[in-house]
Amino acid sequence: MALTAQEVMQRWDFQRDCLIEMLHDVQSEYHYLPREVVEGLSHGLKVSVPQILEVATFYNAFSLTPKGQAKFNLVICNGTLCYARQAPLIIEQFESELGLKVGGMTPDGIFGLEESACLGVCGLAPVMIINGEEVVGRISQDRIPKLISELRGRAEREKHKPRQED
Ligand code: FES
Repeated sequence: MALTAQEVMQRWDFQRDCLIEMLHDVQSEYHYLPREVVEGLSHGLKVSVPQILEVATFYNAFSLTPKGQAKFNLVICNGTLCYARQAPLIIEQFESELGLKVGGMTPDGIFGLEESACLGVCGLAPVMIINGEEVVGRISQDRIPKLISELRGRAEREKHKPRQED
């Protein structure tokens, strides 16, 4: 059942101040922000579509198109604080470990990689968000291989349900 604009607004009591939270819910459901849901939010919250899109494009955790059909879309923050805490090196390492460039996807479709302006969780810098919903904070270069192998493991388990345990 796809989440409707009405349902997401109900969750947040139709509070305009919760627009970002609503967008996170929509992103998490669809992995992007479908136009009809944005229009529904605009209508219900009395906020213009351009205003909603302005918020959505400021935070790169949101996609306006159904791109990133990778199983895990990794968005690495390169905002000021994350930048100061080695985000460029972290991005480079993800590129090198995954064998792709920012904006790309691995041939197996498991990983997509993007970078972003501030994701709004600077206290956890440097930060990555997976599929617009799962925040991984305080990433260090030495954690990256393990993070990748855990995600690969998750992808494998989901592919071969029922789950196998070693
Ligand atoms: S600068 Fe990265 S979360 Fe704010």
